[in-house]
Amino acid sequence: MKALKIRKILLVGATGTLGTAVHKALAGRGHEVLTVGRNAGDLRYDVTDPAQIRELYERAGRVDAVVSAAGSTPFRPITEMTAEDYLAAFHGKALSQIELVRQGISRISERGSFTLITGVLAREPIPTGTAASMANGAVESFVRAAAIEIAPQRVNAVSPTVFTESLDTYGNFFPGMPPVPVADAAQAYVRSVEGAQTGQVYAL
Ligand SMILES: NC(=O)c1ccc[n+]([C@@H]2O[C@H](COP(=O)([O-])OP(=O)(O)OC[C@H]3O[C@@H](n4cnc5c(N)ncnc54)[C@H](OP(=O)(O)O)[C@@H]3O)[C@@H](O)[C@H]2O)c1
Repeated sequence: MKALKIRKILLVGATGTLGTAVHKALAGRGHEVLTVGRNAGDLRYDVTDPAQIRELYERAGRVDAVVSAAGSTPFRPITEMTAEDYLAAFHGKALSQIELVRQGISRISERGSFTLITGVLAREPIPTGTAASMANGAVESFVRAAAIEIAPQRVNAVSPTVFTESLDTYGNFFPGMPPVPVADAAQAYVRSVEGAQTGQVYAL
C-alpha cells in the first residue's frame, strides 16, 4: 500500500465544535497541524482582516494545506436585516475564506490544497438565514471558479447540515432536518486534504 504523505496543515478555527473534530481527524492521520484562532491556538489571528492573514502566512511558513473551520453570519428576519448585516456575513464567512485562498496561492506548497467551510443553508434555506445562505453560496461558487485557476493546487468546500453536537443551540432552526455527527464532517476534510479532487462541494 502507498505510504500516507504527512502534511503540514494550517487549521483555522481549531477550538470550535467543528475545528476540534477536524483537528482530531487530521492529527489522527499523522498530519502536523498548526492551529489558528483569535483567542486560542498556536497562532492568534483574526481572518476577517486581510492584513492579519498576510501576517499569519508569514508566521506559519510553507504549509501543504489550509483548512478552515471558522466563519460567522448574523441570523434575523429579512425585514430586520440591514446592509451592514449582509456585509458582516460576507466578511465573516466569505471574504475571510476567499482571502485565505487568494493570499495562500503563492505561499502553500505547489500541490497544496485549501478546504473551506460552507453549510446546508446554501441549498436548503430557513427563515432568518438569508445572510448565511448568501455567504455560503458565495463561498461554494468561489470554490468551483478558483479550482480551475489554481491547479495543481486544489480547493474544496465542506457543506454540512446542523451537527448533532450543535442541536441544543441550533436544533430549532432545522425542524425535521436530520443532523450529521461532526466527526463525519471532519472526515470530509480528510477526504479533501488527502484526496485528489478539486472544485468539489462535499455536502453532508
Ligand atoms: N455548528 C453547526 O451545526 C454547523 C453546521 C454547518 C456548518 N457550520 C459552520 O461551521 C463553521 C464552524 O462552526 P462551529 O459551530 O464549529 O463554530 P464555533 O464552535 O463557534 O467555532 C468557531 C471557531 O473559529 C474560530 N474563529 C471564529 N472567528 C474567527 C476569526 N475571525 N478568525 C480566526 N478564528 C476565528 C473560533 O476561535 P476564536 O473565538 O478563538 O477566534 C473557534 O475556534 C461555521 O462557519 C459554521 O457556519 C456549523
